[in-house]
Amino acid sequence: MRKVIAYERVEKPVLEDLQKKYDVHFFKNIDPKTDPEFLKHLHQAEGIIGLDLPVDHELLENAPNLKIVSNVSVGYNNFDLEQLDKRNIMATNTPGILTDTVADTVFGILIATARRIPELDHFVKDGQWDQNIESKHFGIDVHHKTLGIIGMGRIGQAIAKRAHFGFDMDIVYHSRTRKPEVEETYHATYASLDELLTQSDFVCLITPLTPETEGMIGKREFELMKKSGIFINGSRGKTIVEQDLIDALTNGEIAAAGVDVFEKEPTDPDNPLLKMKNTVTLPHVGSSTHETELKMSELAATNLEKGLNGGKPPNLIDPEVWKQLHKGS
Ligand code: GLV
Repeated sequence: MRKVIAYERVEKPVLEDLQKKYDVHFFKNIDPKTDPEFLKHLHQAEGIIGLDLPVDHELLENAPNLKIVSNVSVGYNNFDLEQLDKRNIMATNTPGILTDTVADTVFGILIATARRIPELDHFVKDGQWDQNIESKHFGIDVHHKTLGIIGMGRIGQAIAKRAHFGFDMDIVYHSRTRKPEVEETYHATYASLDELLTQSDFVCLITPLTPETEGMIGKREFELMKKSGIFINGSRGKTIVEQDLIDALTNGEIAAAGVDVFEKEPTDPDNPLLKMKNTVTLPHVGSSTHETELKMSELAATNLEKGLNGGKPPNLIDPEVWKQLHKGS
């Protein structure tokens, strides 16, 4: 039986199905750089399926039989694609099926932040609601405001759809390429990053993490935002400079932030973002519904099996396309 490593997250029915066909070793909460069992199996593994495993030069040096790495995620910033390409190892992700789920999460955080839902939930549950609320408890409107979307891929477009049809928002967007069909369908206006930051009531970051987008939102960008502006990060923690977000919130450069992702995950319990009233924080659950996680595991398994059996996986990451991504955000 061919050896497969499953890492961190593969839904149970999918894992059980793979176990019938392959010699699957499942690892969770280990250090993949040092765990002796992991390294032993890695040496013979032909396939890897899972979430967030850093597939870098060092790992690949220990994986001489590897044919395919299959992410259970749309993001693939954990892959060193140059190294994979050099070794002719296939890399895959799970795009498409999670688009609406992530867009729902991002919109949920946006509304929760603007209307202070978690904060007021605590207020009620703590028994503090002992008289009619005052203006200090009011939130701000979402509908008819201006939403700036940075990154207009599938998920950006699904956010635009919700904003335009559901909330009558004006949409400005910034992305690598202009999208005339998006401009027409959602009445979205293309803008430079700086224009978007200065015009938007809500700035929503949903771009993939690449060397070019790493740290793209920092001190200068937060300063360009409106003081009443709300920043939402649904991409990756490292697309922003987290300390600069903390400073911008502390200094009143922006009004509030909602984040699903952190520079380091899990984030430290003493991260100042967790102590602020004007932040909404989630533990990277953009795509994490029962339905979507199962579909992602199934798609990742399909990709894995295709690759192991000499076929072309449906979601093969084309290194040429990826190289294009490096030419700008
Ligand atoms: C989630 O963050 C994903 O990349 O699928």
